[in-house]
Amino acid sequence: MAIIQINGGRPLAGDVQISGAKNAVLPILVASLLTEDDLQLNNVPHLQDVTTTMALLAQLGADIGMDEHMRILINTRQVHSQAAPYELVRTMRASILVLGPLLARFGRAEVSLPGGCAIGARPVDLHIKGMQALGAEVEVKSGYIVARAKRLRGARIVMDTVTVTGTENVMMAATLAQGTTVIENAAQEPEVVDLARCLNSMGAQISGEGTDTLEIQGVDSLHGATHDVLPDRIETGTYLVAAAITGGKLRLQRTRPDTLDAVLSKLQDSGAHISTGADWIQVDMAGRRPAAVDITTAPYPGFPTDMQAQFTALNCIAEGTSVISERVFENRFMHVLELQRLGADIQLRGGNAIVKGVAKLSGAPLMATDLRASASLVLAGLIAEGETRVDRVYHIDRGYENIEEKLSGVGADIRRLTSSFRQPTSAAVA
Ligand code: EPZ
Repeated sequence: MAIIQINGGRPLAGDVQISGAKNAVLPILVASLLTEDDLQLNNVPHLQDVTTTMALLAQLGADIGMDEHMRILINTRQVHSQAAPYELVRTMRASILVLGPLLARFGRAEVSLPGGCAIGARPVDLHIKGMQALGAEVEVKSGYIVARAKRLRGARIVMDTVTVTGTENVMMAATLAQGTTVIENAAQEPEVVDLARCLNSMGAQISGEGTDTLEIQGVDSLHGATHDVLPDRIETGTYLVAAAITGGKLRLQRTRPDTLDAVLSKLQDSGAHISTGADWIQVDMAGRRPAAVDITTAPYPGFPTDMQAQFTALNCIAEGTSVISERVFENRFMHVLELQRLGADIQLRGGNAIVKGVAKLSGAPLMATDLRASASLVLAGLIAEGETRVDRVYHIDRGYENIEEKLSGVGADIRRLTSSFRQPTSAAVA
C-alpha cells in the first residue's frame, strides 16, 4: 500500500493543469446506459473511481475503450445484465447512479445498497422515493434495491433534502419517462449542470439546470454524443489552498472560476490575492500567513462540503480563531484527529470544529480516512516542519490525478513510497 512522504515548508510557485471533474464524469459515464449509440467523453481524469465505474459498466456488458488522449468511447448496446453487485458498489457509493438509467432503458434494476460510509450515514432513500414517484415498483431485500417498471411516467417530485446524486439519478431516469417530470429542491451543483448538458446533447429535453427546479420532457430514445467533461472545481480549490497554506503563488489552468465563487471569496478573506480569466485562476499569498476564516458548508452555491477539510487545514496555521460548521454530513471531521498529531489546536463541539491558529505545525506519520480528509493531510504536510507521511493514500487516488507530480512540479518536496501495511478491504466512502 502506498504512502505519500512530504518535507514541508516550501512556498509553492508555478502552474498546475486541472483535470476533468470526478463528480461530473461518474454520472456522465453511467448516462451511456440510456442510449444504444456511442458516447465519447473528453477531458476524463485518470482516477480510481473512473476505473471502478468503467469496470461496473463493462460487467453489465458495455463496450468501453480509452485512447491515448484519455478519450473514452462507450457503447452499451450489448448490455445483458441489470445487476450492480455489492462487491463493486461497496467500493464506490456513486454506483447507485446506475439505478435510474437501468430502470429507464431496461425496465429493471438490481442495485446493492451502498452500505456504511466513513463521513456519514448517507442513505439512498431519496433515490428510491424518486424512482417510485416515476412509477417504478421498488423493494429492498437482502441488501439489494430491486426495481421494476414497464415504462416510467413523468411526475412532480419534491426532494426532501438537496441531494446531488439523488437529483442526478431521477433526472437520468426521467429523460426516457412518458410525459413531463419536474424535480423541485433539486441540486444546483455544476456537476449536475454538466450532466444535464451532456444528456441534452444526447437528445434529452431538460431545462432549469443550475436552479432548484428541473423540468424534463420524456423522449422515446436518446442518441450518441461527444462531451467535454467539466473541470474539477474541488481539485482546483485544493490547489488554491496549497498555494495559500504555503504562502506561495500558483496559476491554475483549464479550470472554471465561475464554479468557485464561495471558495474564492473565503480565500480572499484569508488574505490571498486572486485574479481570474475565462479558464484560469491565479492565487498569490505573497509569503503572508493566512487570516482565520469561518466556514459553514451548504449545498451549491454555498460553501462546498468537499472543501471543508482543506480549509480546516488552512485555518490550523492561520492568524486567529475560526469556526468550521459542517452542515451537510454528520461525521466529516476525521481529519481533525490527524491534524492534531501535527500540533493543530482544534476542539470538536457537535457539528463544529473550533480552530485556534498556531504559528507552526510539526511533521508526523498520519493515516488517511477518506478522500478529502487525505487531501487536507497532504496540505498540512506541505507547511509542517520536517517530514510528514500520509498512509492509505488509496483514498486520495480516488479523486486526485497525479497529486504528487502536480505538487512537486510547483516546488513541493513530495514523493510516493510503498508501505508494508496490508491494504484493508474496508468499505469506501465518497
Ligand atoms: C455527492 O455525494 C458527491 N459525490 C460528494 O462528493 C459530495 O460530498 C456530496 O454530493 C455533497 O456535495 C458525487 O457526486 C459522486 P448527497 P452524494 O446525496 O450525492 C443526504 C467527494 O469527496 N441524503 O448530496 O452522495 C445525505 O445523507 C464526494 O467527491 C439523504 O438523506 O451526497 C447528506 O446528508 C464525497 N437521502 C445530504 O443528503 C438520500 O437519498 C447530501 O448528500 C441521499 C442523500
